[in-house]
Amino acid sequence: MTRLTVLGGTGYTGSAIVREAVARGHEVTSYSRHAPAEPVPGVTYVQGSVLDADVRRQIVAGADVIVSALAPRGDMAGTQVEILSDLARQAKGTRIGVVGGFGSLRPEPGAPRFVDTDALPEEYKPESREMLEVKEALAAGDADWFYVSPAAAYGSYAPGEATGSYRTSGEIALFDADGKSELSGADFAKAIVDEIEKPQYQRAHWSVAY
Ligand SMILES: NC(=O)c1ccc[n+]([C@@H]2O[C@H](COP(=O)([O-])OP(=O)(O)OC[C@H]3O[C@@H](n4cnc5c(N)ncnc54)[C@H](OP(=O)(O)O)[C@@H]3O)[C@@H](O)[C@H]2O)c1
Repeated sequence: MTRLTVLGGTGYTGSAIVREAVARGHEVTSYSRHAPAEPVPGVTYVQGSVLDADVRRQIVAGADVIVSALAPRGDMAGTQVEILSDLARQAKGTRIGVVGGFGSLRPEPGAPRFVDTDALPEEYKPESREMLEVKEALAAGDADWFYVSPAAAYGSYAPGEATGSYRTSGEIALFDADGKSELSGADFAKAIVDEIEKPQYQRAHWSVAY
């Protein structure tokens, strides 16, 4: 049993992670500014902002593993490097996982990341670049971290279904036999909880897709 704290455990990605983790017997806490519309039974929901340094101290003190499912959108744009660097500095033995974007992956070894090409729509680039900076900040420190990218067609607009299967890769994007890059929220959450239970990607960038 792991004490898992999910930042943004009420959002699209975070709520799938807390659901999967609590079903597998972990002690799960979620931090968000607002209470969840549909709380998952067994999850402890704390209302607080990760912009608050006292809240960040409380988060690190209470967790074996922290997973950030925050999104750098709206008033949270431009905040992620500071928040996650601060948590990483405080984390003495606490593992920190960060959910990032597809844009930080590469199509093949040595090729530019999607975010640095026309393959990623311009509207997604600021979010993708900010999360990539988070990864670089974590890599420059000494915390135990992972940074995970979902498929291209992942997100609340395409929730999909739980299939129970997925593939993982490093920072090279996975595509299925039809050239598609897809993943449901439930299967992404399964991959993340599997990684928490049996670490394979320590201080590493990895990706998940069908
Ligand atoms: N295909 C892709 O590459 C792709 C697609 C989708 C998402 N993603 C990535 O996945 C990650 C999560 O995205 P998402 O769409 O799942 O996010 P989301 O649904 O927008 O959820 C964000 C969560 O963060 C919480 N939050 C926001 N500000 C906070 C604060 N100051 N303190 C505490 N909690 C706060 C929100 O709750 P409150 O507002 O109540 O605080 C909410 O629970 C992002 O990094 C995003 O880039 C990637």
